[in-house]
Amino acid sequence: MSTAPTAKSFHHMAFEVTDIEKSIAFYRDVLGLKVTEHHQAGEVEAIPVELVFMRINENHHDLVLAHNPAKKYRTATAADATEGLPGFHHFAIEYNNREDWLTQLDRAKEMGLEIVRGPVVHSPWHPRGEGSWGENESFYILDPDGHRIELFCDMATIDDKGVFIDAYGKTLEGGVADEV
Ligand SMILES: [Fe+2]
Repeated sequence: MSTAPTAKSFHHMAFEVTDIEKSIAFYRDVLGLKVTEHHQAGEVEAIPVELVFMRINENHHDLVLAHNPAKKYRTATAADATEGLPGFHHFAIEYNNREDWLTQLDRAKEMGLEIVRGPVVHSPWHPRGEGSWGENESFYILDPDGHRIELFCDMATIDDKGVFIDAYGKTLEGGVADEV
């Protein structure tokens, strides 16, 4: 078998929502995403779900909201925290710099959103780091269906030797990727 080509990027994600208008409003008003296209279930025979394609910048879509009108969605129960199918954990939105990220943190507070984790620095090196991984500064909120969203800035990058470099160009001593 030939070697897998290096992928260009990780791209969009799609998940189901119980109330599509409520979710569009959340992603538009809280995170600033825009609707590219909104299609009804069955417009294309092979697609029995309502789909909303939302974008951040120039990509046709970064996020897809799907709603199946034939499905009876149940609400989460306490048991879901301890048993069930493996499922969605979180996705993340990156900001261009710490200033923008702090602005979004202020906005989240002003909007009265519950910040379910953070703000936190995911780092074993940073003076304010909590010992976790990625070197990024994050806080987490929930969408109307409880999907967990991480909002972050300043994640480390990995150079061609597997060495960790922080967002300000500094080599992180001892930071090396498991696989190069
Ligand atoms: Fe994350």
